[in-house]
Amino acid sequence: MAMAGKDVKKGWFSTPGRPGDRTLEQQLNGLDRLFMAAHGKTILDLGCAEGLISIELAKAGALAVHGVEIVPGHVEVANKLRGDLPVTFEVGDANVWQPKRNYDIVIALALLQKVRNPTAVAARLAASARELVVLRLPPQHAPTVIDERSGNEPHHIGTVMKNGGWYVEHAGYDGAFGEWMGYYRRNKNA
Ligand SMILES: C[S@@+](CC[C@H](N)C(=O)[O-])C[C@H]1O[C@@H](n2cnc3c(N)ncnc32)[C@H](O)[C@@H]1O
Repeated sequence: MAMAGKDVKKGWFSTPGRPGDRTLEQQLNGLDRLFMAAHGKTILDLGCAEGLISIELAKAGALAVHGVEIVPGHVEVANKLRGDLPVTFEVGDANVWQPKRNYDIVIALALLQKVRNPTAVAARLAASARELVVLRLPPQHAPTVIDERSGNEPHHIGTVMKNGGWYVEHAGYDGAFGEWMGYYRRNKNA
């Protein structure tokens, strides 16, 4: 789309001056429990797009939020929007990106269906979380992911989480478009 003679690329989130596929309000659906848990916590947001959810979590009192996103233009927008909040952003590919530390909470919202090996990415992100993992997945087979980007092979994310020492605290089709939302808590002895 051309604006004032300049190409404006479409974003994921609609942000000022940059149209997107979704609004923040839409993408906050199903996240009430996450926002209730966020105060004082460190949070990793894998596949954060322009970082609007990360920024909201910081506004809600998270201690520090780190967003990872594969599209550099999204990260540029995120860095412009973050102000002085305790949020950092990084260009990274979840297929290979390795957490350098642990986080109290890890979220991967509408991300796992996009990677080459959802099982491996889910196992990696869960291993870096201390307390809570929040996933948003396509509703069709959830919490199993079947997607052409992972060869149409079933990736049983529920089993990955269970084997990694996590239990389902809450699950439901709570996304704005009926996406499945899963809240996983770490077992006490795991
Ligand atoms: C469907 S959007 C979801 C954004 C946000 N998490 C939400 O729930 O509203 C998925 C985001 O993940 C990013 N993404 C896709 N593949 C990725 C990868 N391999 N590593 C990191 N980010 C990726 C996309 O560029 C996009 O911004």
